[in-house]
Amino acid sequence: MAQNTDHIATEGAMAPFWMPFTANKQFKASPRLLKSAEGMYYQSVDDRPILDGTAGLWCCNAGHGRRQITEAVQRQIAELDFAPTFQMGHPLPFEFAQRLAELAPPGLDRVFFTNSGSESADTALKIALQYHRLRGEGQRTRFIGREKGYHGVGFGGISVGGLGNNRKGFGPLLTGVDHLPHTLNIERNAFTKGLPEPDMSLADRLEELVALHGADTIAAVIVEPMAGSAGVILPPKGYLKRLREICTRHGILLIFDEVITGFGRLGSPFASQEFDVIPDILTSAKGLTNGAIPMGAVFVQNAIYNQFMDADGPAIELFHGYTYSGHPVAAAAGLATLEVYQSEGLLTRAADLAEYWESALHSLRDLPNVIDIRNYGLVGAIELSARDGAPGARAYDVFTKAFELGALIRVTGDVIALSPPLIIERDQIDQLMSIITDAIRATR
Ligand SMILES: Cc1ncc(COP(=O)(O)O)c(C=O)c1O
Repeated sequence: MAQNTDHIATEGAMAPFWMPFTANKQFKASPRLLKSAEGMYYQSVDDRPILDGTAGLWCCNAGHGRRQITEAVQRQIAELDFAPTFQMGHPLPFEFAQRLAELAPPGLDRVFFTNSGSESADTALKIALQYHRLRGEGQRTRFIGREKGYHGVGFGGISVGGLGNNRKGFGPLLTGVDHLPHTLNIERNAFTKGLPEPDMSLADRLEELVALHGADTIAAVIVEPMAGSAGVILPPKGYLKRLREICTRHGILLIFDEVITGFGRLGSPFASQEFDVIPDILTSAKGLTNGAIPMGAVFVQNAIYNQFMDADGPAIELFHGYTYSGHPVAAAAGLATLEVYQSEGLLTRAADLAEYWESALHSLRDLPNVIDIRNYGLVGAIELSARDGAPGARAYDVFTKAFELGALIRVTGDVIALSPPLIIERDQIDQLMSIITDAIRATR
């Protein structure tokens, strides 16, 4: 349906909405507004097709306007708009959890529902803490995150996260958190296709942190198998396996934040399957419902769940949950999403397209100011050199130019991050690269 958006496209009318992770003054002076979407394309308010190079915000893995999902949502909201899941229930989250457990890596078949990736991260951290306490190891209260990690914006998530801007403004955060080094090494790995060659010293830093703090004080290590928000940082070959070994050796839980890698982004349903490393807890959101309705899910190993259930008596085992944990409309959206993913083979389609995507992306390496290109599955990053004294400005200009030319890309710092819907066709990959090429060429 056509929308008249003239009434909001003025600076004054835009003032009340405090936009998230946005330069509000800059945006409202020169807004970019989308009004509808179908398949691989958004439509801007000035009626231009905009090729979606980012699956919205890493979430619309099956593309936009999927009728099966829309209709499931419509049916569900008409039938049961809301029902509590605190000491009550309704069938949908049980059914959805069962379907998710079938898809999850081995053993991760207990599912706690949240509403977002941030809530999933905080939920995972809390489960880890109480698990150790239930085992009589309540002194394990430390977390190890990683530099440049992103685990959402809750206090737990920013404490273990490693992006300075997300932490600096917000006080002392959780105590007892330490960080592994990040795995980006452009000097050594620039223009590597796929995973960088092994550098075990990065994972072995965990042994040093264990030696420093004592294994018996550490509850969990949390990392993204592939860091997305910091600008697509890939794990060197063997890195995740080594982290797994060290965690297992010391009784430390390993949490994978798969909020963006979950649901097919890297070529397998989850990155843990792609890299053959099974964590103890796995967090997800975004692609869980194709972005249509907010929802997150935390997958927990049976043994951890059982530790909670083994406690004596009928009491509540975990004092944690959200009003909307297992919301019926979100669960219906999720079930329909899984059906779309599975019937169209989308959870492994990134693997089929990876080679084409890789060579299309790397064909941009000789463009001006390009200092690195990274890729895996249907994820890509083009890193630009920063303008003197203005980090991020060059990539931001490429972003606005690309939008003008008809593509939505994402930039973080001076990195252009790409994660198109998994339905993308080869000619659309070409179109995306062509727009990005023009946008980079047009930027000084
Ligand atoms: C790895 C990771 N974890 C957590 C989050 C936070 O998710 P949300 O914005 O849904 O809270 C994100 C969002 O981009 C993410 O990439």
